[in-house]
Amino acid sequence: MAIDMELEAVLRPPEAPQAPYPAKVITLANGKRMVVREVTRADVPKLLRVVHPTLFIDKDYYNVVGARLYSELLAWQYYRVQNEFCLVGQIDGILVGMVNSRMYTAETGMSLHTLAIDRGLRIGAHLFAAKMEHHIEFLGQKEVLIVAESPIGFRRWMTEYGLEPTTIPHELGGAPAYRLTRQLYFDSKPRLVVGDRPVPDELLAVAEQELIAADESMIREKIAGLKGR
Ligand SMILES: CC(C)(COP(=O)(O)OP(=O)(O)OC[C@H]1O[C@@H](n2cnc3c(N)ncnc32)[C@H](O)[C@@H]1OP(=O)(O)O)[C@@H](O)C(=O)NCCC(=O)NCCS
Repeated sequence: MAIDMELEAVLRPPEAPQAPYPAKVITLANGKRMVVREVTRADVPKLLRVVHPTLFIDKDYYNVVGARLYSELLAWQYYRVQNEFCLVGQIDGILVGMVNSRMYTAETGMSLHTLAIDRGLRIGAHLFAAKMEHHIEFLGQKEVLIVAESPIGFRRWMTEYGLEPTTIPHELGGAPAYRLTRQLYFDSKPRLVVGDRPVPDELLAVAEQELIAADESMIREKIAGLKGR
């Protein structure tokens, strides 16, 4: 599409510089190694191919989360959201999950979404932990505001981290946000935040070479739990 850069300068929200997220590798319970790394706007079309099938999966709130995530990623691609970032999990290059979030202010992070395509391996839990790691350790933020749209999400975030309830309306529908403080993050870190750095060169090369989107029927099967690990 033709872009009027003069108008774009008005339409695009100003962005603060963000520190990069250094890639890490996590060995999952099945022994497979998942590379967690930050992606860029140029990767969004690939990400959308993986999110799209979830829009029609009425199970574990995949449709609600998928639809919101889809629109957030598109907004990011077209510079219509401020200070968003996105981390992905890849096994043998294949995209198995993603998280997105944004800096609401320099001090406060606004957690957006977590989506796991491969189930039963805590891929979502690990990616959420990486997102918190980025907010607190690399972006140097004081707190992250979080809501859950699904019971699994509530168990994973609110219960596992012991998040603090607040009355602050979250961007996702205005629900009262829960807060991860720096203290809570560092208290939970030994239990919940895992992974090794640096990622071995050959492993990172495979991940960076191509972000492989599983085909649609495979995604449906994995989320529906028909395909094992
Ligand atoms: C929430 C979410 C990110 C968590 O991902 P995860 O940590 O990888 O966890 P899973 O979804 O694989 O598993 C959740 C539970 O269901 C079980 N489960 C679900 N499908 C399974 C499968 N196919 N095989 C094995 N276990 C499965 C898991 O054992 C796990 O049980 P536990 O909580 O007792 O450990 C993921 O469920 C998801 O993407 N949900 C849809 C979107 C969503 O709700 N996002 C969060 C919004 S707040």
